[in-house]
This record gives sequence, C-alpha cells and structure tokens, in this order.
Amino acid sequence: MISEELKKARDFEEQAEKSISESDRPVYHLTARTGWLNDPNGFSFFGGKYHLFYQYYPYKSVWGPMHWGHAVSSDLVKWDYLPAALAPDREYDGSGCFSGSSVTMSNGKQLIMYTGCSDDPSDERGRWKQQQCIAIGDGNDYEKYEENPVITEDDLPDGADPHEFRDPYIWKSGASRYRAVVANANEKNGGTTQMCLYKSDDGLHWRRESVLFEDSLKTGIMWECPNFFRIGSHFILMACPMDMEAEEAEGSVRFPKGNNECYMTGLFDEYTGEFMPQTSGDFNPLYYPVDCGLDFYAAQVLAAPENRYIMIAWMQDPENSKDHDPDIKLYGQLTFPRELFIKQGKLCQKPVRELTQYRGTETHYNNVRLDGETVLDGVSGRVADIELRLRPEAITTDTDARKLSYDRFAIRFAADKDTYTEFAYDPHASTVTIDRTRSVPGKIVAGERRTKVRNREGSLDLRILLDRSSAEIFINDGEQVITTTLQTPPEIQGISFLCSGKAIMNISKYELNVE
Ligand code: FRU
Repeated sequence: MISEELKKARDFEEQAEKSISESDRPVYHLTARTGWLNDPNGFSFFGGKYHLFYQYYPYKSVWGPMHWGHAVSSDLVKWDYLPAALAPDREYDGSGCFSGSSVTMSNGKQLIMYTGCSDDPSDERGRWKQQQCIAIGDGNDYEKYEENPVITEDDLPDGADPHEFRDPYIWKSGASRYRAVVANANEKNGGTTQMCLYKSDDGLHWRRESVLFEDSLKTGIMWECPNFFRIGSHFILMACPMDMEAEEAEGSVRFPKGNNECYMTGLFDEYTGEFMPQTSGDFNPLYYPVDCGLDFYAAQVLAAPENRYIMIAWMQDPENSKDHDPDIKLYGQLTFPRELFIKQGKLCQKPVRELTQYRGTETHYNNVRLDGETVLDGVSGRVADIELRLRPEAITTDTDARKLSYDRFAIRFAADKDTYTEFAYDPHASTVTIDRTRSVPGKIVAGERRTKVRNREGSLDLRILLDRSSAEIFINDGEQVITTTLQTPPEIQGISFLCSGKAIMNISKYELNVE
C-alpha cells in the first residue's frame, strides 16, 4: 500500500519534471528528478539493472524532510527515473528517511536499510532519534517492514548517543548472513565516532556484533556515511568526518577544514568483528582523503558484478550547499561512477569504462610544444572526456641537480579572458592545485586546494570529465582525483593551457553523445 505522503511525492515529481528541460541538467551526471538531492543511497545491482536511490526533497531545491528518489540504469551512464521509493510517512521516520543502502535478499527481493528520524520529546536539545529501518521491494515499490525499527538505541553500546546513529551500510556475508555497519557518536569522552557492526540471519532480525572501529583521536565531531568492503586482501573503511580541523603535510593540505571523506585500509578480524587499520608514525590510524577536490561527500560503494567496486558520491561540499537561489528547480548532483582499485596499498579510481561507448568526435594533438599560453582548435566546451599526457621537453643535469624544462603547467577550463577554473601542476614541489575562485564573473567563489602528488619528474597523466557544471580530474591513472562543481555561466566554454618553460603535451578530447 502506498501512503498518502508517497503518493503526493510521486504525483508532484511527475508533474514538476515536465517544467525541467534537458539543458537544465548535466548530460551524464545524475540529479534529482526535481528539487533537492544529497547523498547517493541504496546503490545496488538488482534485476539486471543498477539502482541508485538518493536523499531527496522533491518540493523545493533545498534540504527538507528526506524522501528517497530512485533511478535505474543498465550502463551507469544513462539513468531513467523511477517513482520516489520512500517518503517520511511513519511515526519512526516522520522527520526523514535518512541515508542507507541495499542488498538482494535470499528470496530475490530487494532490501533497503535506512535511518528513520523521529521527534524525541525527551531530548533537551530537540534532536531527532535515529533508528535503523527496513523496506522490502521489487525494484519499483517498497513496503516498510511492520516490525520497524529493526536496530534501535537498545542495540547500541554503553554511552552511545541515539541521536547520532545513522547511515547503515549493509552487505551479504556468506550465502545467507547479513552484516551492517552503522555510524554512531559515543558520548563518553565528549564524543568519539564508533562504527557499530550488526549481524542478521534473515536481514530482518539484527544483533550487535562488535564495534568495528572507534576513532580514539576524535577526528571531527562525528563520522557519517560509512562503507566497509574488501578489495583483494585489503579491507577498506570509508566514511565522512564532519567538521574536521585542517590537516597539512609537506606544503599541501591533506584535509581542508570542514567536512571530508576519508578511507583507511587494514585487516578485519572475523571473530572479534574488529577492523584494524594500518597505522604509521605520523598518522594513527593512517587515513587518506578519498578525493582531493572541493565537492565530494557521502560516497557509496557497490560490490558490482564482474568483481568491480564502483563508487558514487554527492558532488557537493555540504558546507556550500545552501548558497544557491532556493527557487531554482534543481539542486545537487552525483559524481560520475568510479571503479576502485588498489595500487601499492592506496585506493585509486577511474571513471567506469562504460563512458567510452559514448565517445563521439575526437580531436587529437600529438607532441604539442607548450611555452606560454596555448589554445587548440577544437579543444573547448563544457561537456567532454579528455585524456592528456604531459612531459618536460628536456631534463638536463646540473652539477648538483636535475633540471626540468618547465616550472609550472596549468589548464584553464570553463574559461574566457577573466573567468576560469584552473588546475595547476608544480613539477618541482610535486603538487597540484585546483582554483575556482575566479569561476563566476564579478564575484570571488570559495574554493582552492593544493595536494601532493607522486614525483614523476615533470610528467603528468590526466583524464578530465567535464559536464556543464562540474569537472572531475583523475591524476596519474587515478592515484588522486579532484572534483569540483562550477557555477560558471554555460556560454563560457574556453579551454587553454599555460606553461612556464617548455613542455610537450599529447591530448585527445572526445565529445560525449549521451542524449
Ligand atoms: C550526509 C547526511 C547523512 C544523513 C543524510 C541526511 O550528507 O547528513 O548522515 O543520513 O545526509 O540527508
């Protein structure tokens, strides 16, 4: 039975989307069907299709009582909207159906586990109680389980705060066992994050197994949106510390102040249910940024067919998500799906291969000699897939040092004379910088970040995905990724290359025909 609230949301979105034209949306990045989108949810492969749900407020392009929007795809590039899947329509989720994930049950049904938020009159600070709930469906309609909530404050360890208890990440462990990790702030010691691990034999009845991980260093106020998965012999815990202090290292910013996404690799003890992250003298545990750009949060990782691990995230710094005109029809977009892999113990990313099927006209230049500013015929536009390889023209040897023939390389995109977003590479310091402060005419926009990259003696490989209002830059085969949204007016289309000194570039720019 569909509730009044869900029916209202479904009717509304069906009407409202008619007034949104294709040109209001990015070409190959998912937005809400209408209104507001934040975290990706329930990313799954079910019934032969990829399903992607998202935190959704259909009625306005601002955050509001959370619904789950729903879209499906057969290739992770083109998405079709389905009717909204969940609305906040029960006593236990009336204040919002918060983030969660999804798994296929042994009986072939799709199970969604999400956080139900509800008023808590006993909380002096007026916060919501957060409990884990289940809905079961056929890929189109979902029925909330009659015994919801299935994981409550009674299932929390001592000292845990039931108002900060959310974002279950569920997976099948073995043929008929389920596990889920849920983020929680423990009130002991002024609040440390603990990731609570639960287990179940049927996906419906849950018991606490362990605390998978506790952040004894108190990084940020709490970590939300956990993912826990295994690639080869590496177990990976990924989550979002909120309100972190900035962390700097080697002249670059490891983490800027604010909300970030980080990951740790390590071992998992099946018997104690504990994750043991790798540590080092400097960082204990050893956690790294997942993305080194300006807009990346709340990622969700899918263990997909053919042994692929595919990640998708909210392409937005939550901090800046309230700066827009609330009367626009759409706000929020997801990253392009990225395949994860491990190289020398580090998590690397590449855009899923399906995108290359949509490549159209190629503009290709070999051995372009860069010296000063260069503009290339046919290399411009706001929707493109670009591969670029740079090397110094020469490396000479002084008596005491190797010298590169250039000192700085930069690409400006969404550019005209005064407006641009700049990606720059310093081959001496081995750093890259993204700077979108000049991306909107007549105003300074927040956003600059510098990141250390591997020293490759002045050679650099880039894959750049541009899609109207975003750029995702994959550096050196995905060792690092920089993601940023852009509010640059669409008519600003230029791309230019700047080089202090002499370097050689090969570039292929592909049009993408996704319509
Ligand atoms: C992360 C988050 C989640 C929560 C959801 C609510 O962006 O705050 O922790 O479930 O958004 O929309």
